[in-house]
Amino acid sequence: MEIIILPTPGDVARTAADVIEQQVRRGPCVLGLATGSTPLVTYKELTDRYRVGSLSFRHAQAFLLDEYVGLPAAHPQSYHSTIRDDFTDSVDFGAGSVHGLNGMAEDLEGEAAQYEALIAASGGVDIQILGIGTDGHVGFNEPMSSLGSRTRIKTLTRQTLEDNARFFGTPEDVPHHVLTQGLGTIREARHLLLLAMGGAKAEAVAAAVEGPVAALCPASVLQLHPHVSVLIDEAAASRLAHREYYTDTFGRKPAWQGL
Ligand code: GLP
Repeated sequence: MEIIILPTPGDVARTAADVIEQQVRRGPCVLGLATGSTPLVTYKELTDRYRVGSLSFRHAQAFLLDEYVGLPAAHPQSYHSTIRDDFTDSVDFGAGSVHGLNGMAEDLEGEAAQYEALIAASGGVDIQILGIGTDGHVGFNEPMSSLGSRTRIKTLTRQTLEDNARFFGTPEDVPHHVLTQGLGTIREARHLLLLAMGGAKAEAVAAAVEGPVAALCPASVLQLHPHVSVLIDEAAASRLAHREYYTDTFGRKPAWQGL
């Protein structure tokens, strides 16, 4: 795990965009996209680079992490809609190259299995962008999710319902069920980019990075992955015990190493 503490959310976004840009420039690739507020600045940065003509996504495919059960893709709060509004419709992904789970599927288990098969058929995810919930969830893998889980239905915790109520009105208006890539699925991506900004995420970041690997903090499973970049601002880093070591290490990193 490489922990990179940057002064501002803008620095986090630019660094994440640099990593994604490098991957996209190498040729056809598969990106794993997260929704939520955290990656918005990164998506804006990538959109700006596309607009000035320096970057194209026409040879990239994308897979979303998760989706609410019971929301049609056209619903403004479905993750299908939000990723289109926040990113993919503003750049040049080819038709049919952005994939998401169908939260309206009659057979949700079949939908989950099909999604796994589609990711595998694409050759697997090259870079997976991840946010983190205040309860340590990634995707919608809530605490006590199996660390080896695959794409499946989950029930949201009270904490996540409250966190996401800002998009729906009240916690009761938030769909209680979701489909999400599992922790085992996410771990198969070749490079994981965990992004976090702001003091509200500080405790979850500390548990994920410095706590034990435990289902209680699903993001802690990333400690088992061979290539994880944790990009966080000062506020999100504020509960880390070993901040100085991370900052010193990143400061001394040989330029040729990249992220
Ligand atoms: C949401 C999403 C996650 C996201 C997390 C944090 O519920 N399912 O993919 O990373 O919670 O959200 P935010 O970035 O808005 O804080």
